[in-house]
Amino acid sequence: NLALDNEARAILAGNDRGGYTVPTAGLYPYQWNWDSIFAAMGFAEHDRARAWAEIETLFSGQWPNGMVPHILFHKVDPSYFPGPDIWGGVGPLPSSGISQPPVAATFIRCLYEQDKALGAAHVRALIPRLTDWHRWFITWRGEGGAICVSHPWETGRDNAPDWDAPFAAIEPVGVEEYRRRDTTHVVEDERPRSYEYDRYLYLVKLGRESGWDEAHIKADSPFRVADPTMTFILLRANRDLLALAREFGAPTDEIEGWIAAIGAGAERLWNPEIGAYDCLDIRSGQHSGVISNASFLSWYGGLHDDRMLAHFERIRGLTRFGVPSADPGHPAYEPRRYWRGPVWAMMNWLIAMGLDEAGHGDLAEALRLNTGEMIATGGFAEYFDPRDGTPAGGRNFTWTAAVWLAWAS
Ligand code: DGY
Repeated sequence: NLALDNEARAILAGNDRGGYTVPTAGLYPYQWNWDSIFAAMGFAEHDRARAWAEIETLFSGQWPNGMVPHILFHKVDPSYFPGPDIWGGVGPLPSSGISQPPVAATFIRCLYEQDKALGAAHVRALIPRLTDWHRWFITWRGEGGAICVSHPWETGRDNAPDWDAPFAAIEPVGVEEYRRRDTTHVVEDERPRSYEYDRYLYLVKLGRESGWDEAHIKADSPFRVADPTMTFILLRANRDLLALAREFGAPTDEIEGWIAAIGAGAERLWNPEIGAYDCLDIRSGQHSGVISNASFLSWYGGLHDDRMLAHFERIRGLTRFGVPSADPGHPAYEPRRYWRGPVWAMMNWLIAMGLDEAGHGDLAEALRLNTGEMIATGGFAEYFDPRDGTPAGGRNFTWTAAVWLAWAS
């Protein structure tokens, strides 16, 4: 579809701020971590040098402790809250104080495979940076090999029902009065509630007051939840990093150890009560009991057992467009509200990659076609209503355009 291809390229160009891309003007006017990796894959389809530049700009914000922030505030823009002053990041660039799902190593490997001559020098420089970042996850977010988050924003799945129980245990005391900007760009019903925003800001405040001291956060934060997004994505990322390290003669022992540890730790996310992977609240010891689209990243993580297959087929059968971010059979499901139901194209890409590699090429292809049809129906929106593909959230969205170009078209 030439018209849509051109529109997708125009969206990437329009969101390009020179060396980095914003997810969408207004709602998200800075560089976001995993958004940028998907942007790079979109650029790669017509400009591979620009793809590498995107990634290098992201890593220029890496903190001395190895963390790669979830937002880099290259140029202050009052259309977004909370900005750099609220975060008080302590890295080389103004940034947030948390990270985001480490899809980078996997797509850096893809980019390299597309053009080894162009990619080699980039990969050589990025291997130690990726290794430092992955070590940061293992050190500060690891719990018996399962990977936790210290803030829902770290998973990208901001208001998933998985956080309902951990959030109910948090009293957001001492959060200064604030004014949300997101609801000036997007209707309220498609965004998180104030109840959640109070707690998001409370956790930011705790982190900032500690000077983003990870030892302190690990020991004291009321929010520490092991999550399938992080666990499966990091597991996968380490396999790809290992392949790159082997090819470039970089050290591999430590990475092999991480793969074994996370492979075992992933089983901590198995909830026998629902027979599925979900979140595990480390503070309470309770599983979340919700099947999310992240639950279906187990194949992407390289767990080639098919215990999630029946859930996948059931959930795919419930809505016209899949994969909904929360199980439509769960009482918390809200088909328009951000991560409580809507479909996210980049999650579908990851899920399909895993399905394909696990020998379910037919399901992967069906999901690709379904995603393509959804985008063709609803446009390049941030996310979509699973019932009919109604576009929701931000428009002219970078990662939806990129996923279209790289995969769904
Ligand atoms: C937001 O502001 O909604 C973002 O998801 C935070 O990363």
